Amino acid sequence: MTLSRNHAAKGLSRRNFLRTIGKGMAGGALAGFAIGREGAFAGEVLPEVKRRQLGRTGLMVSEIGFGGHSWSYAQVPDGDKMRVASETEALEMVRTGLEMGVNFFDSDTPQLEHTVPGKAVRKLNARKDVIVCARLVHKMKGQASDKEEVYKFVDERLKMWQTDYFDILFTGMATEDYWDMSYCIEALEKVKKAGKCRFTGFGSHFSRGKFVEAIEKYGKAFDICSMPYNVYHRGAEDVLPAAEQCGLGIVTIKPFARGSLLKKKDLEGKDKGLPRRMIAYVIENKHVDCCVCGVHTIAHVRENFSASANPLSPEERLLLQDSFGSAEEIPLGWLDRGWRYA
Ligand SMILES: NC(=O)c1ccc[n+]([C@@H]2O[C@H](COP(=O)([O-])OP(=O)(O)OC[C@H]3O[C@@H](n4cnc5c(N)ncnc54)[C@H](OP(=O)(O)O)[C@@H]3O)[C@@H](O)[C@H]2O)c1
Repeated sequence: MTLSRNHAAKGLSRRNFLRTIGKGMAGGALAGFAIGREGAFAGEVLPEVKRRQLGRTGLMVSEIGFGGHSWSYAQVPDGDKMRVASETEALEMVRTGLEMGVNFFDSDTPQLEHTVPGKAVRKLNARKDVIVCARLVHKMKGQASDKEEVYKFVDERLKMWQTDYFDILFTGMATEDYWDMSYCIEALEKVKKAGKCRFTGFGSHFSRGKFVEAIEKYGKAFDICSMPYNVYHRGAEDVLPAAEQCGLGIVTIKPFARGSLLKKKDLEGKDKGLPRRMIAYVIENKHVDCCVCGVHTIAHVRENFSASANPLSPEERLLLQDSFGSAEEIPLGWLDRGWRYA
C-alpha cells in the first residue's frame, strides 16, 4: 500500500473532534453528539475517518468527504420512485458523518447542495468545525464576464449555506480543454480579500493531458485542484504528481463514476463491501487528500466513510482491479475519453 504524505499527520482524532465540536454546541446538539446519539446507531462505536493536510492550505481535512450531489440528486428509493433525501434524513447523515470524523463538505452548482447541508450544519452548530467547499462548475467562459459570475455566485451561495465565508471556492468549466482563468483568478483574489473565502481551487472535466498543462500555467494561482479518480478511470495517476509538486491540495471526485461502476454489481451478495473497497483504493494513493463521494442513505454514509478504517489487503486490491479491468460499457462518455487508460 502507498502511504499518504499525510498519514503521519492525522490531525484531530475523532475523540478530540467530538470534544472540540461539543464545546461549540448548544445543549441539545451536544447531547446528541458527545453523550451518545439517539437513533439507529446510539451507543455504537463507528469507524473513524482520518485527516490529511490539504496541500499548502494547512487545512486538516477528512480523507473522505460528503459530495454535494448527495443532497440534490433524486436517488433515495421510495416505493417505486426515487426522491432527494429529506432534511431529516440529511441531518442524520451529516450527524453520523461528523461523528465518524468527516469534516469536508463539497457543494456543486445545484441550490440544494448548499441549502441542505447548510441547514444541517447550522442545526448541529458545527460550522467552525467543518470545511465548506463551493464550486462554480460549468460557469466559467474564459472572458471578462467570469468576474461578475464569481461575485454573484459567492453572495448567493453564502446565504444558502447560512455562512459568512467559504473555506474553499472552486472554479470550473465542463469542457475537455481548460479555459483562460485570468479573469476568475482576479475575481477570486477580490473575494478572498473581502473575507468571503479562505482558499481557492480549480477543478473540471478536462482530459488529463490538458489538466497537466493547466497546472503548469495556472497552478501557482490556486491552493487546491480537483479531478475524477476511481479504480476504473485512473488517468488522474498521470496528473496527481504534477499537482502535488505544485503544492496544490488534491480533492478527488467520482469514486464510483457517478454510481455507474456499481450498477451491475451484486452489492447484497458476492460484491458486498465493494463501495467501501473502491474508496479505500482511491485514498491509498499517497497524493490524494480528500475523496468526495455521493451518499444517498445512512447506509451509504456508514459504508463509504468506513473505508478510512479499512485499508485494502493486497488480495482485495488485485480482485478490485481485476473486476474492473475488463469493464467495457461504462455510460459516462466524457469520463472514459479523458480519464481512462486505453
Ligand atoms: N465538476 C465537478 O467539479 C464535479 C462534478 C461532479 C461531481 N463533483 C463532486 O463529486 C462528488 C462525487 O461525485 P458523484 O456524486 O457524481 O459520484 P460518485 O460518488 O462516484 O457516485 C455516487 C453514486 O454512487 C452510488 N453509491 C454511493 N455509495 C454507495 C453505496 N455505499 N452503495 C451503493 N451505491 C452507492 C449512488 O448511486 P445510486 O444513486 O445509483 O444508488 C450515488 O448516487 C459529487 O457529489 C460532487 O460533490 C464535482
